[in-house]
Amino acid sequence: MHVIAVANQKGGTAKTTTAAAVGLLLARAGRRVHLVDMDPQASLTHAFGRRDAEGRLFAALADGRGLPVERLGERFTISPSDITLSRGETEFISKPGREHCLRRALAATPLADDALVIVDCPPSLGVLAVNCLTAARQILLVVQPGGFELQALVHFEQTVALLREWVNPHLSVAGAVLTNCHSRRSITEQVAGEVARVYPLLGTVRMDAQLLYATTAGNMLALRKSKALDDYDGVRINLEKRLSWPNRPLPESPASWAG
Ligand SMILES: Nc1ncnc2c1ncn2[C@@H]1O[C@H](COP(=O)(O)OP(=O)(O)OP(=O)(O)O)[C@@H](O)[C@H]1O
Ligand SMILES: [Mg+2]
Repeated sequence: MHVIAVANQKGGTAKTTTAAAVGLLLARAGRRVHLVDMDPQASLTHAFGRRDAEGRLFAALADGRGLPVERLGERFTISPSDITLSRGETEFISKPGREHCLRRALAATPLADDALVIVDCPPSLGVLAVNCLTAARQILLVVQPGGFELQALVHFEQTVALLREWVNPHLSVAGAVLTNCHSRRSITEQVAGEVARVYPLLGTVRMDAQLLYATTAGNMLALRKSKALDDYDGVRINLEKRLSWPNRPLPESPASWAG
């Protein structure tokens, strides 16, 4: 399996929306995709109309057991989260090998060899986020055009450098996505220019009420067409080019891949 963390320690940059849209589009394009909701806010879980009332994700991480896997489509699954996961932030701190809880639990999860695992990171650089970046091979960085973004990226880059040095030497940034963009604002171009100097810019995504409604109503699976989804398809294509993961031949029947 190949693990991609959708990350930025800054809150509200559209990490979850990006994980949902890119995951859905990759599954619709024929990839086998598994989503992991590593945020106790459980927004990714809600975007697909699911819930994990029993704290199964937290228990699996704490005990090193396989993650819960729920089916969203024939080739599309999710490990749902809930608020219980917030206990990880304090309880894993004193655990030996605390960075490796997710990596160990993923290894015990019965996922297909060709599964692409997309992990939605929480907005912090705490234990849960570090677990995501320890389990991941690549990072999809999600940036919103704004005044404090570039400072946040400096901190993020420092954390990635430390993780590379101490726990995950192969961790790399596949690229960045600029989200919630307003084409007529000069800050969009400025931030896009700055980000593109450091990371491959995989695309810019427009503001879109349809996508906002689909995620907040838990209807993501039903969303077929919207302007942000079109933008995310460009991101999906660019991401596929940069995946350090082989392309598999597409299976026969596209209709039910992504539910
Ligand atoms: N392209 C878009 N158009 C309109 N609204 C969007 C778009 N992308 C994200 N949003 C909205 O912006 C808000 C923040 O998005 P989201 O929850 O995906 O960010 P996040 O980075 O995961 O937040 P957190 O850091 O809290 O986990 C949400 O209300 C979401 O619906
Ligand atoms: Mg989120």
